[in-house]
Amino acid sequence: MMKRLLPFVLLAGAMSPFACAAPPALPLDDRQALIETLLERMTLAEKIGQLRLISIGGDMPRERIVEEIAAGRIGATFNSVTRADNRPMQDAALRSRLGIPIFFAYDVVHGHRTIFPISLALASSWDLDAIALSGRVSAIEASADGLDLTFAPMVDITRDPRWGRTSEGFGEDPYLVSQIAGTLVRAYQGERLSAADSVMASVKHFALYGAVEGGRDYNVVDMSPQRMYQDYLPPYRAAVDAGAGGVMVALNTVNGVPASANRWLLRDLLRDDWGFRGLNISDHGAIDELLRHGVARDGREAARLAIEAGIDLSMHDSLYLQELPGLVERGEVPLELIDQAVGRVLGAKYDLGLFHDPYRRIGRAVDDPAEVNAESRLHREAARQVARESLVLLENRGQTLPLRRDARIALVGPLADSPVDMLGSWSAAGVAAQAVTLRQGLERALGKDGRIIHARGANVTDDAGMIKYLNFLNWDRPEVVQDPRPPQAMIDEAVRAAREADVIVAALGEARGMSHESSSRTSLTLPASQQALLEALVATGKPLVVVLMNGRPLQLGWVREHADALLETWFTGTEGGNAIADVLFGAHNPSGKLPISFPRSVGQIPTYYNHPRLGRPYVEGRPGNYTSQYFEEPNGALYPFGYGLSYTEFELSKPQLSQRELKRGQRLEVSVTVKNSGARAGATVVQLYLQDLVGSSVRPVKELKRFEKIRLEPGETRVVRFTLGEDDLRFHDARLDHVAEPGEFEVQLGLDSRTVQSERFELL
Ligand code: NOJ
Repeated sequence: MMKRLLPFVLLAGAMSPFACAAPPALPLDDRQALIETLLERMTLAEKIGQLRLISIGGDMPRERIVEEIAAGRIGATFNSVTRADNRPMQDAALRSRLGIPIFFAYDVVHGHRTIFPISLALASSWDLDAIALSGRVSAIEASADGLDLTFAPMVDITRDPRWGRTSEGFGEDPYLVSQIAGTLVRAYQGERLSAADSVMASVKHFALYGAVEGGRDYNVVDMSPQRMYQDYLPPYRAAVDAGAGGVMVALNTVNGVPASANRWLLRDLLRDDWGFRGLNISDHGAIDELLRHGVARDGREAARLAIEAGIDLSMHDSLYLQELPGLVERGEVPLELIDQAVGRVLGAKYDLGLFHDPYRRIGRAVDDPAEVNAESRLHREAARQVARESLVLLENRGQTLPLRRDARIALVGPLADSPVDMLGSWSAAGVAAQAVTLRQGLERALGKDGRIIHARGANVTDDAGMIKYLNFLNWDRPEVVQDPRPPQAMIDEAVRAAREADVIVAALGEARGMSHESSSRTSLTLPASQQALLEALVATGKPLVVVLMNGRPLQLGWVREHADALLETWFTGTEGGNAIADVLFGAHNPSGKLPISFPRSVGQIPTYYNHPRLGRPYVEGRPGNYTSQYFEEPNGALYPFGYGLSYTEFELSKPQLSQRELKRGQRLEVSVTVKNSGARAGATVVQLYLQDLVGSSVRPVKELKRFEKIRLEPGETRVVRFTLGEDDLRFHDARLDHVAEPGEFEVQLGLDSRTVQSERFELL
């Protein structure tokens, strides 16, 4: 016990072979004094050791890591996820000469043991309480496994669904993503970061990773400063302002300079302008990659560029270890830079409470869970609740949904009963066998009375190259298991099932690995195997409900035309099957709204709703008039940002403004009356957009500024009020000044970004 509470007093000096007497105790109650005291006691090698974050496994087996930690050559590790695994490493850290604790990190992106819907789905809920719940539960579960830091939230704005990491982010809108960024940082970090059930948030990927050219992962990012400030930077800023302890630096270039070597980005902007005092972490191997980017001649130069730019902690590369000692000794890198970086690592450990108790989250061995995957450790109810909020009803012709419980259902499709795909990418310590599939969810909901005729119908894809890629991380147990039957035999079986049934429920979309890091696509249609199945099902003439499981907007024109109902479920997590069944049978009325536009085709990308105005906008019904358009398709998304249906109907009044003129420093109230005019209770999201009618720079056609999710009983009416002030009218002008220019503004209120009612006011 003493050892746990006072490691430095007892261990630091005592473990040193040269110590005659223990050095004075560390000033545990004074963060800065503690950092300075340790810096004075540390050798250069020990300092550099603190700057290394090492992944367990691969080239770093556990035994070797333990040795390296004990030798003071590692400051933190990631990818080990149990208290029992982490404890020996912390023991080793306390055996090192100075006994500085290490911390344990992991990608807890949308849940830890209980997996919540993927981030894009969380954003579809537009429900900050639900999102906060997912973050809090994640922190509780991760910390209970001895973890201290998560590489989340991932707040890269995404306008190109070809990018596989679209699934990891919260969509295309700076305001919505910023709100979520702040919410999740607070949820992960709790009221006190040092609390045993808090984990540090490390927001990523700083910066602009979502804008990789062509949606191809790791590609170039090149962007005007105005777009950067206006659209892409706000979510990272929101996370920093909410107190995120860490920032993970992006792998991409930012206007010619890799983020990991970008002094402007990491020092001028992040530290000086935004006042970030936390820890900068490079992404996996990013310092090595400076060589491949061609901005460093050799490892020595790469390490120098990274430390000069402001990378404190280097994730799994060896260049800091190999090169920093020589760089400092030769005077090419001032010791002061190393000390600053080490100070931030130590500061993070201090804030996490690890100097007071290095076992704060690891706990005592006697209290370790007997079974780490025990059911009792899951938060199923929370996961189901959040998953239900994230489902988006895209179509519902002839009230095909909700389904009758006495209906005979043909359940088909490769994703109807695939547990691993329910989890989505980055599923942390989630266990596929604990995920409820759609088949299981429907069966449970129906009980004995229901009748489900299940047929797989198709493989998720028949593209051998893609399957090989999707399985490459799991050689011992492939994740995508092909049904060996000929495609036509599977389709025939599904058609027979459909003929026997009253309604078809087809679970189609992507394998989870198709929407992941390094999983970019040039086509957004359903894979050919699934399209063939769908066409055969449509030909039966039976009512068809398509349940989509995917991690990015897909090209849905054909599906939309032929399906009777279309439910976007993304990847819904551990409780996905139950949540989807709740919605299919009407136990829960869907209320999700798209956080990203769905393009009509790949050629139309980008389709983001908050587009700057044009000199030659397309005018409906006037073809060939030298306006901005394509031959083949109308402008605008197939499904716009903010869109989603309900089983009930909502009516929105015209917005009322408290005044027509707004003086600086004053507030303006916008109110709107919402009525549930349908027959069921339900929730919807009231969305407020603004358009700055004339600006010194071209302004977007609209920008989301406020939203509120409300629940109404049938017939119930509610007045929703929003207040706006000068700050909401600001934008970054051509000089990047953040200004609110006088003139007229249009307030647009709607239940999606396209169908709005507007009023105007003037900023004086
Ligand atoms: C690389 C990914 O880009 C990043 O998002 C992740 O956090 C790290 N690997 C660690 O797994």
